[in-house]
Amino acid sequence: MATVLLTGGAGYIGSHAALEFLNDGSEVVVADNFSNSSPKSIERVEKLTGKKVALREVDVCDKAATRKLFEEFKFDAIVHFAGYKAVGESVAQPLKYYRNNIDSALVLCELMEEFGVNKIVFSSSATVYGTSQNVPLKETEPTGCTNPYGWTKLMIEQILRDFARSNENISVTLLRYFNPVGAHASGEIGEDPLGIPNNLAPFVCQVAVGRREKLSVFGSDYPTPDGTGVRDYIHVVDLALGHVAAYRNAKPGVSVYNLGTGTGYSVLDLVKTFEKVNGVKIPYELTARRPGDVATCYADPTLANEALGWSAKLGLEEMCRDAYNWQKKYPNGYRD
Ligand code: UD1
Repeated sequence: MATVLLTGGAGYIGSHAALEFLNDGSEVVVADNFSNSSPKSIERVEKLTGKKVALREVDVCDKAATRKLFEEFKFDAIVHFAGYKAVGESVAQPLKYYRNNIDSALVLCELMEEFGVNKIVFSSSATVYGTSQNVPLKETEPTGCTNPYGWTKLMIEQILRDFARSNENISVTLLRYFNPVGAHASGEIGEDPLGIPNNLAPFVCQVAVGRREKLSVFGSDYPTPDGTGVRDYIHVVDLALGHVAAYRNAKPGVSVYNLGTGTGYSVLDLVKTFEKVNGVKIPYELTARRPGDVATCYADPTLANEALGWSAKLGLEEMCRDAYNWQKKYPNGYRD
């Protein structure tokens, strides 16, 4: 049985991926420093699957600690989720972002080289398309970023490209996520941001359960059908399955795939759908644009559909239903 290392595997996307890798028959090792996650997510993954995860509290910037994992297990592949991901914080504390995100990637590449591990799947982001409005965005779109968080994603993409160029056995898969939302249908695992959520769906969920009074809709004068920003929301379970497909289809060299649905929805589409499927009211007010936001961003996922035999199956209704189901069950996330 193949063994896969999931860095950041206790986090939101990582925990959903851990579950799908287990369902797919892999052995899963999770390395996580719990800086923005909880070991409870992995306990629940074990309960849901009836399988064990080797969970290790390790910061992958710590090379000695990470080397121990490579000594303990023979990895077939690394799926690298670990990293800081808050755009605003990255502007305020750029060095923290560069140090953490770049260091961890370098440590993993060095240990892959040392231990002869040849496959890596990396959590990149549609943020690497910068302010491009050339939708639907294809993987060939020129890249460029507007904040340090985004630059760390793009820099790691470059590091991995150069790493692959240096050794013909290396397989690098860069997955550019659009907007992951939702939760596992069981409601046992889901998104649990620290503090005030930066992202739309977790904010809406917290309004729905009464943790926040109302949503601020950032901008209503965009050149979109209803004036609010349009994004490609993708169910986190579809996204997790995209990692399994990427791993299964990994080939030497560099592959880049958009993981999105290919459909854009506005902020108000999401709010209305959330209200309808969940029978709740989401009070909101229209406020100023958030600096750095683009009007419209959605994927052309054709390449992933064709090369990986993967496509997103779940729609906005399932995303809203499952996100709320998790939040209702665990209003305070893993802190209950
Ligand atoms: C954001 C990041 C992106 C990152 C992604 C990861 C920014 C500018 N971009 O994407 O780099 O890869 O998260 O999850 O932070 N909105 C509101 N009210 C809110 C929150 C959001 O109206 O309280 C709107 C936004 O203006 C946007 C949409 O909802 O139109 C989605 O926002 P968000 O969930 O933050 O995702 P992105 O901005 O697309």
